[in-house]
Amino acid sequence: MQKQDLKTPFFMIDEEKLIANLEKVKRLKELSGVKLVLALKCFSTWGVFDIIKPYLDGTTSSGPYEVKLGYETFGGETHAYSVGYSEDDVREVADICDKMIFNSQSQLLAYRHLVEGKASLGLRLNPGVSYAGQDLANPARQYSRLGVQMDHIDPSIFENLNGAMFHMNCENKDVDAFIALLDSISENFGQHLDKLEWVSLGGGVFFTWPGYDIEKLALALKHFSERHGVQLYLEPGEAIITKTTDLVVTVVDIVENDMKTAIVDSATEAHRLDTLIYDEPASVAEASENGEHTYVIGSCSCLAGDQFCVTQFDQPLAIGQRLHILDSAGYTMVKLNWFNGLKMPSIYCLRQNGDIEKLNEFGYEDFKRSLSQWSVS
Ligand SMILES: Cc1ncc(COP(=O)(O)O)c(C=O)c1O
Repeated sequence: MQKQDLKTPFFMIDEEKLIANLEKVKRLKELSGVKLVLALKCFSTWGVFDIIKPYLDGTTSSGPYEVKLGYETFGGETHAYSVGYSEDDVREVADICDKMIFNSQSQLLAYRHLVEGKASLGLRLNPGVSYAGQDLANPARQYSRLGVQMDHIDPSIFENLNGAMFHMNCENKDVDAFIALLDSISENFGQHLDKLEWVSLGGGVFFTWPGYDIEKLALALKHFSERHGVQLYLEPGEAIITKTTDLVVTVVDIVENDMKTAIVDSATEAHRLDTLIYDEPASVAEASENGEHTYVIGSCSCLAGDQFCVTQFDQPLAIGQRLHILDSAGYTMVKLNWFNGLKMPSIYCLRQNGDIEKLNEFGYEDFKRSLSQWSVS
Protein backbone atom coordinates (compact mmCIF):
# COMPACT_ATOMS: atom_id res chain seq x y z
CA MET A 1 0.00 0.00 0.00
CA GLN A 2 1.53 3.35 -1.04
CA LYS A 3 0.58 6.50 0.84
CA GLN A 4 0.05 8.53 -2.33
CA ASP A 5 -2.53 5.99 -3.54
CA LEU A 6 -4.73 6.31 -0.45
CA LYS A 7 -7.90 8.33 -0.83
CA THR A 8 -8.18 11.38 1.42
CA PRO A 9 -9.34 12.20 3.98
CA PHE A 10 -7.45 9.74 6.18
CA PHE A 11 -5.66 9.54 9.49
CA MET A 12 -2.13 8.14 9.50
CA ILE A 13 -0.84 6.96 12.86
CA ASP A 14 2.95 6.75 12.89
CA GLU A 15 4.19 3.75 14.92
CA GLU A 16 7.70 5.10 15.30
CA LYS A 17 6.45 8.36 16.81
CA LEU A 18 4.07 6.47 19.07
CA ILE A 19 6.89 4.28 20.34
CA ALA A 20 9.02 7.36 21.01
CA ASN A 21 6.28 8.58 23.39
CA LEU A 22 5.91 5.13 24.91
CA GLU A 23 9.63 4.87 25.64
CA LYS A 24 9.17 7.95 27.85
CA VAL A 25 6.37 6.12 29.64
CA LYS A 26 8.77 3.25 30.27
CA ARG A 27 11.33 5.56 31.79
CA LEU A 28 8.77 7.27 34.00
CA LYS A 29 7.51 3.92 35.27
CA GLU A 30 10.99 2.60 35.99
CA LEU A 31 11.99 5.72 37.88
CA SER A 32 8.81 6.25 39.88
CA GLY A 33 6.94 2.95 40.32
CA VAL A 34 3.78 4.67 39.06
CA LYS A 35 1.33 2.62 36.99
CA LEU A 36 -0.23 4.12 33.88
CA VAL A 37 -3.62 3.42 32.36
CA LEU A 38 -4.57 4.77 28.95
CA ALA A 39 -7.48 7.25 29.02
CA LEU A 40 -9.75 5.85 26.32
CA LYS A 41 -11.74 9.08 26.19
CA CYS A 42 -8.73 10.58 24.43
CA PHE A 43 -7.77 7.72 22.17
CA SER A 44 -9.62 4.47 21.56
CA THR A 45 -8.34 3.33 18.18
CA TRP A 46 -7.89 -0.23 19.37
CA GLY A 47 -6.25 -1.34 16.13
CA VAL A 48 -2.94 -0.01 17.46
CA PHE A 49 -3.32 -1.22 21.05
CA ASP A 50 -0.86 -4.05 20.39
CA ILE A 51 1.81 -1.35 20.05
CA ILE A 52 0.78 0.36 23.30
CA LYS A 53 0.06 -2.65 25.51
CA PRO A 54 3.66 -3.60 26.37
CA TYR A 55 4.19 -0.14 27.88
CA LEU A 56 1.02 0.60 29.85
CA ASP A 57 -0.78 -1.21 32.65
CA GLY A 58 -4.31 -1.02 31.31
CA THR A 59 -7.05 1.44 30.50
CA THR A 60 -9.35 3.89 32.18
CA SER A 61 -12.72 4.99 30.96
CA SER A 62 -15.36 7.63 31.17
CA GLY A 63 -18.40 5.61 30.14
CA PRO A 64 -19.65 2.01 30.09
CA TYR A 65 -18.68 1.18 26.50
CA GLU A 66 -15.14 2.37 27.05
CA VAL A 67 -14.86 -0.03 29.96
CA LYS A 68 -15.94 -2.89 27.73
CA LEU A 69 -13.60 -1.80 24.95
CA GLY A 70 -10.64 -1.57 27.33
CA TYR A 71 -11.43 -4.97 28.81
CA GLU A 72 -11.86 -6.63 25.41
CA THR A 73 -9.10 -5.02 23.40
CA PHE A 74 -6.40 -3.90 25.84
CA GLY A 75 -6.59 -6.05 28.94
CA GLY A 76 -4.38 -5.50 31.96
CA GLU A 77 -6.11 -3.38 34.58
CA THR A 78 -9.49 -2.00 33.60
CA HIS A 79 -10.48 1.11 35.53
CA ALA A 80 -14.08 2.23 35.31
CA TYR A 81 -15.12 5.80 36.01
CA SER A 82 -18.17 7.77 35.05
CA VAL A 83 -19.46 11.17 36.07
CA GLY A 84 -22.87 9.56 36.49
CA TYR A 85 -23.65 5.85 36.54
CA SER A 86 -27.09 4.35 36.17
CA GLU A 87 -27.71 1.17 38.13
CA ASP A 88 -27.66 -0.79 34.86
CA ASP A 89 -24.26 0.70 34.02
CA VAL A 90 -22.85 -0.35 37.37
CA ARG A 91 -24.15 -3.90 37.01
CA GLU A 92 -22.67 -4.22 33.51
CA VAL A 93 -19.33 -2.72 34.39
CA ALA A 94 -18.72 -4.31 37.80
CA ASP A 95 -18.10 -7.76 36.31
CA ILE A 96 -15.36 -6.64 33.96
CA CYS A 97 -13.51 -3.84 35.76
CA ASP A 98 -10.73 -4.06 38.32
CA LYS A 99 -11.38 -0.65 39.84
CA MET A 100 -14.69 1.18 39.98
CA ILE A 101 -14.38 4.89 40.68
CA PHE A 102 -17.51 6.83 41.63
CA ASN A 103 -17.81 10.55 41.08
CA SER A 104 -19.80 11.33 44.23
CA GLN A 105 -20.44 10.02 47.70
CA SER A 106 -24.11 9.52 46.82
CA GLN A 107 -23.26 7.21 43.89
CA LEU A 108 -20.74 5.36 46.03
CA LEU A 109 -23.29 4.76 48.76
CA ALA A 110 -26.04 3.79 46.34
CA TYR A 111 -24.02 1.26 44.36
CA ARG A 112 -21.12 0.03 46.42
CA HIS A 113 -22.98 -3.18 47.30
CA LEU A 114 -23.03 -4.07 43.58
CA VAL A 115 -19.27 -3.71 43.31
CA GLU A 116 -17.94 -5.09 46.59
CA GLY A 117 -16.21 -8.42 46.14
CA LYS A 118 -15.86 -7.80 42.42
CA ALA A 119 -13.72 -4.67 42.02
CA SER A 120 -11.64 -2.28 44.08
CA LEU A 121 -13.70 0.75 45.11
CA GLY A 122 -12.61 4.33 44.47
CA LEU A 123 -14.00 7.83 44.80
CA ARG A 124 -13.13 10.92 42.77
CA LEU A 125 -12.04 13.85 44.91
CA ASN A 126 -11.85 17.41 43.69
CA PRO A 127 -8.70 19.12 44.97
CA GLY A 128 -10.14 22.58 44.28
CA VAL A 129 -6.95 23.53 42.43
CA SER A 130 -5.99 22.78 38.87
CA TYR A 131 -3.84 23.53 35.85
CA ALA A 132 -6.00 24.05 32.80
CA GLY A 133 -5.78 26.64 30.06
CA GLN A 134 -9.49 27.01 29.47
CA ASP A 135 -12.38 27.15 31.90
CA LEU A 136 -14.31 24.63 29.79
CA ALA A 137 -11.66 22.02 30.60
CA ASN A 138 -11.00 23.08 34.18
CA PRO A 139 -12.18 20.39 36.63
CA ALA A 140 -11.85 22.87 39.51
CA ARG A 141 -14.05 25.49 37.85
CA GLN A 142 -16.80 27.17 39.82
CA TYR A 143 -19.68 24.80 40.68
CA SER A 144 -17.71 21.85 39.31
CA ARG A 145 -19.57 18.54 39.41
CA LEU A 146 -16.38 16.54 38.99
CA GLY A 147 -15.50 14.79 42.23
CA VAL A 148 -16.15 15.47 45.90
CA GLN A 149 -15.01 18.84 47.23
CA MET A 150 -12.85 18.85 50.33
CA ASP A 151 -15.45 20.51 52.55
CA HIS A 152 -18.11 17.97 51.52
CA ILE A 153 -16.14 14.88 52.44
CA ASP A 154 -17.63 12.56 55.01
CA PRO A 155 -14.42 11.20 56.62
CA SER A 156 -16.09 7.89 57.54
CA ILE A 157 -16.29 7.07 53.85
CA PHE A 158 -12.55 6.34 53.83
CA GLU A 159 -12.94 3.47 56.29
CA ASN A 160 -14.30 1.25 53.50
CA LEU A 161 -12.68 2.64 50.43
CA ASN A 162 -9.72 1.30 48.47
CA GLY A 163 -8.67 4.28 46.42
CA ALA A 164 -9.19 7.83 45.23
CA MET A 165 -8.88 9.61 41.92
CA PHE A 166 -7.96 13.24 41.32
CA HIS A 167 -7.94 14.78 37.88
CA MET A 168 -6.91 18.40 37.76
CA ASN A 169 -4.51 18.89 34.84
CA CYS A 170 -4.98 19.71 31.20
CA GLU A 171 -1.90 19.61 28.96
CA ASN A 172 0.32 20.59 31.88
CA LYS A 173 3.87 20.88 30.53
CA ASP A 174 5.21 22.49 33.70
CA VAL A 175 6.57 19.92 36.13
CA ASP A 176 6.86 22.44 38.97
CA ALA A 177 3.23 23.45 38.58
CA PHE A 178 2.28 19.78 38.78
CA ILE A 179 4.40 19.27 41.90
CA ALA A 180 2.69 22.27 43.53
CA LEU A 181 -0.68 20.56 42.92
CA LEU A 182 0.68 17.32 44.34
CA ASP A 183 1.85 19.13 47.49
CA SER A 184 -1.54 20.74 47.91
CA ILE A 185 -3.24 17.33 47.65
CA SER A 186 -0.85 15.89 50.22
CA GLU A 187 -1.53 18.71 52.58
CA ASN A 188 -5.30 18.84 52.24
CA PHE A 189 -6.20 15.18 51.71
CA GLY A 190 -3.15 13.38 53.17
CA GLN A 191 -4.88 12.07 56.29
CA HIS A 192 -7.51 10.36 54.13
CA LEU A 193 -5.06 9.08 51.53
CA ASP A 194 -2.99 7.34 54.20
CA LYS A 195 -5.90 4.92 54.66
CA LEU A 196 -6.06 3.93 50.98
CA GLU A 197 -4.29 1.36 48.81
CA TRP A 198 -4.12 3.41 45.63
CA VAL A 199 -4.45 6.95 44.33
CA SER A 200 -4.86 7.97 40.73
CA LEU A 201 -3.69 11.44 39.75
CA GLY A 202 -5.69 11.47 36.54
CA GLY A 203 -4.46 12.68 33.19
CA GLY A 204 -3.24 15.93 31.70
CA VAL A 205 0.42 15.58 32.72
CA PHE A 206 2.28 16.25 29.50
CA PHE A 207 5.46 14.32 30.33
CA THR A 208 6.11 13.34 26.69
CA TRP A 209 6.49 16.99 25.69
CA PRO A 210 10.03 17.77 24.41
CA GLY A 211 12.20 18.93 27.28
CA TYR A 212 9.85 17.76 30.05
CA ASP A 213 11.86 16.82 33.14
CA ILE A 214 10.72 13.22 33.58
CA GLU A 215 13.22 12.56 36.38
CA LYS A 216 11.81 15.40 38.46
CA LEU A 217 8.26 14.20 37.92
CA ALA A 218 9.25 10.61 38.76
CA LEU A 219 10.94 11.66 41.99
CA ALA A 220 7.90 13.68 43.11
CA LEU A 221 5.55 10.78 42.34
CA LYS A 222 7.78 8.31 44.18
CA HIS A 223 7.94 10.57 47.19
CA PHE A 224 4.16 11.04 47.22
CA SER A 225 3.49 7.33 46.98
CA GLU A 226 5.95 6.51 49.77
CA ARG A 227 4.64 9.28 51.98
CA HIS A 228 1.07 8.05 51.81
CA GLY A 229 1.76 4.34 51.33
CA VAL A 230 -0.25 4.09 48.12
CA GLN A 231 0.22 2.69 44.63
CA LEU A 232 0.07 5.68 42.33
CA TYR A 233 -1.56 5.76 38.93
CA LEU A 234 -1.58 8.27 36.10
CA GLU A 235 -4.27 8.24 33.41
CA PRO A 236 -2.56 9.71 30.36
CA GLY A 237 -4.39 10.22 27.10
CA GLU A 238 -2.95 13.08 25.10
CA ALA A 239 0.60 12.46 26.40
CA ILE A 240 0.59 9.02 24.79
CA ILE A 241 -0.71 9.93 21.38
CA THR A 242 0.55 13.47 20.95
CA LYS A 243 2.35 14.30 17.69
CA THR A 244 1.87 10.81 16.26
CA THR A 245 -0.95 11.26 13.78
CA ASP A 246 -1.73 13.36 10.71
CA LEU A 247 -5.12 13.99 9.20
CA VAL A 248 -4.34 13.98 5.48
CA VAL A 249 -6.66 16.07 3.32
CA THR A 250 -6.82 17.34 -0.26
CA VAL A 251 -7.43 20.90 -1.42
CA VAL A 252 -10.63 20.71 -3.49
CA ASP A 253 -11.11 24.40 -4.22
CA ILE A 254 -9.56 27.80 -3.66
CA VAL A 255 -11.84 30.79 -3.21
CA GLU A 256 -11.09 34.42 -2.43
CA ASN A 257 -12.89 37.01 -0.34
CA ASP A 258 -10.22 39.50 0.78
CA MET A 259 -8.28 36.40 1.84
CA LYS A 260 -7.62 33.18 -0.04
CA THR A 261 -9.29 30.12 1.39
CA ALA A 262 -8.18 26.63 0.42
CA ILE A 263 -11.18 24.37 0.93
CA VAL A 264 -10.19 20.83 1.88
CA ASP A 265 -12.15 17.57 1.83
CA SER A 266 -12.61 17.49 5.59
CA ALA A 267 -14.16 19.65 8.30
CA THR A 268 -13.21 20.44 11.84
CA GLU A 269 -16.80 20.10 12.94
CA ALA A 270 -16.91 16.50 11.74
CA HIS A 271 -13.30 15.33 11.87
CA ARG A 272 -11.35 17.54 14.25
CA LEU A 273 -13.93 18.84 16.65
CA ASP A 274 -11.65 20.27 19.35
CA THR A 275 -10.31 22.80 16.84
CA LEU A 276 -13.76 24.36 17.11
CA ILE A 277 -14.62 23.63 20.72
CA TYR A 278 -11.41 25.06 22.10
CA ASP A 279 -10.79 27.54 19.29
CA GLU A 280 -7.27 26.16 18.85
CA PRO A 281 -6.08 26.41 15.24
CA ALA A 282 -4.53 23.30 13.72
CA SER A 283 -0.98 23.15 12.32
CA VAL A 284 -0.23 22.10 8.77
CA ALA A 285 2.98 20.19 7.98
CA GLU A 286 3.46 21.94 4.62
CA ALA A 287 3.13 25.45 6.09
CA SER A 288 6.12 27.75 6.44
CA GLU A 289 6.24 30.43 9.11
CA ASN A 290 7.78 33.03 6.80
CA GLY A 291 5.96 31.96 3.64
CA GLU A 292 4.54 34.72 1.48
CA HIS A 293 1.29 33.02 0.60
CA THR A 294 -1.38 33.18 3.29
CA TYR A 295 -4.42 30.93 3.22
CA VAL A 296 -7.36 30.11 5.39
CA ILE A 297 -7.49 26.32 5.47
CA GLY A 298 -11.23 26.03 5.22
CA SER A 299 -13.51 23.08 5.90
CA CYS A 300 -15.98 21.70 3.40
CA SER A 301 -18.80 21.81 5.97
CA CYS A 302 -21.61 24.35 5.79
CA LEU A 303 -20.67 26.03 9.08
CA ALA A 304 -19.51 29.54 8.24
CA GLY A 305 -16.68 29.68 10.77
CA ASP A 306 -15.46 26.13 10.23
CA GLN A 307 -11.76 26.39 9.42
CA PHE A 308 -8.63 24.52 10.41
CA CYS A 309 -6.34 27.53 10.61
CA VAL A 310 -4.89 30.53 8.82
CA THR A 311 -1.34 29.82 7.76
CA GLN A 312 1.49 30.68 5.37
CA PHE A 313 3.12 28.72 2.57
CA ASP A 314 6.24 29.28 0.48
CA GLN A 315 4.37 28.48 -2.72
CA PRO A 316 0.77 29.08 -3.73
CA LEU A 317 -1.50 26.13 -2.99
CA ALA A 318 -3.03 24.19 -5.85
CA ILE A 319 -6.25 22.26 -6.21
CA GLY A 320 -5.50 18.56 -5.78
CA GLN A 321 -2.61 19.19 -3.40
CA ARG A 322 -2.49 17.22 -0.16
CA LEU A 323 -2.02 18.78 3.25
CA HIS A 324 -1.13 17.08 6.50
CA ILE A 325 -3.01 18.44 9.52
CA LEU A 326 -0.65 17.64 12.38
CA ASP A 327 -1.38 16.09 15.75
CA SER A 328 -4.86 14.87 14.92
CA ALA A 329 -5.35 11.81 17.14
CA GLY A 330 -6.15 12.85 20.72
CA TYR A 331 -9.81 13.72 21.35
CA THR A 332 -10.23 13.67 17.58
CA MET A 333 -10.82 10.16 16.32
CA VAL A 334 -13.10 9.48 19.31
CA LYS A 335 -15.26 12.47 18.35
CA LEU A 336 -15.70 11.80 14.62
CA ASN A 337 -19.24 12.39 13.43
CA TRP A 338 -21.25 12.37 10.21
CA PHE A 339 -22.19 16.06 10.03
CA ASN A 340 -23.07 17.14 6.47
CA GLY A 341 -22.78 13.53 5.28
CA LEU A 342 -19.09 14.11 4.65
CA LYS A 343 -16.86 11.18 3.86
CA MET A 344 -15.42 9.81 7.08
CA PRO A 345 -11.60 9.65 7.13
CA SER A 346 -10.12 6.18 6.83
CA ILE A 347 -7.60 5.16 9.47
CA TYR A 348 -4.15 3.77 8.70
CA CYS A 349 -1.01 2.96 10.64
CA LEU A 350 2.47 3.51 9.23
CA ARG A 351 4.49 0.67 10.74
CA GLN A 352 8.13 1.07 11.68
CA ASN A 353 9.17 -1.11 8.73
CA GLY A 354 7.47 1.27 6.29
CA ASP A 355 4.36 -0.87 5.70
CA ILE A 356 0.99 0.85 5.81
CA GLU A 357 -1.83 -1.08 7.47
CA LYS A 358 -5.49 -0.20 7.15
CA LEU A 359 -7.34 -0.08 10.48
CA ASN A 360 -10.69 1.15 9.26
CA GLU A 361 -12.58 2.62 6.37
CA PHE A 362 -16.13 3.87 6.20
CA GLY A 363 -18.75 4.13 3.52
CA TYR A 364 -22.20 5.43 2.80
CA GLU A 365 -23.77 2.42 4.58
CA ASP A 366 -22.08 3.41 7.85
CA PHE A 367 -23.48 6.93 7.52
CA LYS A 368 -26.97 5.65 6.75
CA ARG A 369 -26.96 3.12 9.58
CA SER A 370 -25.84 5.72 12.09
CA LEU A 371 -29.08 7.62 11.44
CA SER A 372 -31.74 4.89 11.41
CA GLN A 373 -31.75 1.19 10.96
CA TRP A 374 -35.49 0.81 10.55
CA SER A 375 -38.19 3.12 9.19
CA VAL A 376 -41.67 3.55 10.61
CA SER A 377 -44.16 1.04 9.22
C1 LIG B 1 -10.58 11.64 34.79
C2 LIG B 1 -9.69 11.82 33.63
N1 LIG B 1 -8.61 11.04 33.49
C3 LIG B 1 -7.76 11.18 32.44
C4 LIG B 1 -7.98 12.12 31.46
C5 LIG B 1 -7.03 12.20 30.30
O1 LIG B 1 -6.44 13.44 30.20
P1 LIG B 1 -5.31 13.75 29.10
O2 LIG B 1 -5.76 13.20 27.82
O3 LIG B 1 -5.22 15.23 29.09
O4 LIG B 1 -4.06 13.09 29.60
C6 LIG B 1 -9.09 12.98 31.58
C7 LIG B 1 -9.36 14.02 30.57
O5 LIG B 1 -10.31 14.73 30.58
C8 LIG B 1 -9.97 12.82 32.67
O6 LIG B 1 -11.07 13.60 32.81
